[in-house]
Amino acid sequence: MKKNWFAKEVKRLGSIEGYKKPELVQDSVKLDSNENYAISRQFQNDILGAAKKNSDIRAYPLGGAERLISALSKFTQMPSYMIGIGNGSDQILDIILSHFASDKTKILTSDPSFGFFEERCKLYNIPLVAVSFSDDMKLDIKTMQKNSKNAEILYLDSPNNPTGFQFSKRQLEDLTKSFEGLVIIDEAYGEFGDYSLTRMTKTHDNLIVIRTLSKSFGMAGLRLGYFIANKQFTETFMRVLQYPYPVSTITIESGIQALARAGLVRDSITNIRAERKRIIETLRSYDAFEVFDSKANFVLFDAHGSYKRVYSALAEQGISIRKLGKIGSHDGCLRVSVGTKEMNSKFLLAVRDLLG
Ligand SMILES: Cc1ncc(COP(=O)(O)O)c(C=O)c1O
Repeated sequence: MKKNWFAKEVKRLGSIEGYKKPELVQDSVKLDSNENYAISRQFQNDILGAAKKNSDIRAYPLGGAERLISALSKFTQMPSYMIGIGNGSDQILDIILSHFASDKTKILTSDPSFGFFEERCKLYNIPLVAVSFSDDMKLDIKTMQKNSKNAEILYLDSPNNPTGFQFSKRQLEDLTKSFEGLVIIDEAYGEFGDYSLTRMTKTHDNLIVIRTLSKSFGMAGLRLGYFIANKQFTETFMRVLQYPYPVSTITIESGIQALARAGLVRDSITNIRAERKRIIETLRSYDAFEVFDSKANFVLFDAHGSYKRVYSALAEQGISIRKLGKIGSHDGCLRVSVGTKEMNSKFLLAVRDLLG
């Protein structure tokens, strides 16, 4: 055995930057992580209260995953045998990457794409073929198609984080149909967009659609993600690759309660879409900003040379947004999540005070 191999391996892994979580600022107006505060506290209290009644945490959650999957099946109108769950969609992505990709499999994606996904690929030394966004933050379907031949896996977050871009349904369907390897469509923000590709999993065995309760249901703290894919993959994932008890009893019971109240979630999505429009239109009224279209619960804008000043001035007033800096030809990108009407108004007023 080689001397010091363990210390060397720790050093090598330690040199990887890893996913950078946003800073924790107490009592801030939190618009930096694409969470959903438009879901009321009452919704959360009702769910947790009912979940508590149904929980006995002395026991392992035997049969719990099956009951949760059955509730997801009703919600998505997809058969239970095509649905798997995970500790957030982060964990599902990680399991897929660690078992189906390696330094010999190329992944076609966009640049930028979901930060955690990019970091995980770095960790596993998986090479990315990354297609850049155009100046108006759109992806060119032809360039994606041209690069399809060079990759074994296609990963797209649809809508994309951090740009908010989503291909038309037709374009994404065509790209998926023509791709010969594994297609992973991450619909973390799918409910805020125009469509879902879930139904295509019925006819395309190489397609996995990943979804989560973190965004549209406002339950990021619960850590509950799920996927929809062909029967054989789903069965293998849940029996062999996934942990025996991937999510807690509280998560299972809360998930079931939340899914039973999906109507309230739909109302909050309608509000978020309206607020997204208000944020885009208001930010567009300032010459200092270039504001991109969004199909998600956040808005990306380029504040050019003043982006650091805008970010810091907002932070001083207790408003947290995400500082991204350079994306393609845009030097000063900032991303703001769509919060409650009050949160969004605070953000927009602070911007007005700064620029008005
Ligand atoms: C594109 C995308 N996929 C997945 C996730 C992670 O979701 P989850 O909370 O289910 O792990 C995020 C979270 O920001 C995301 O932006």
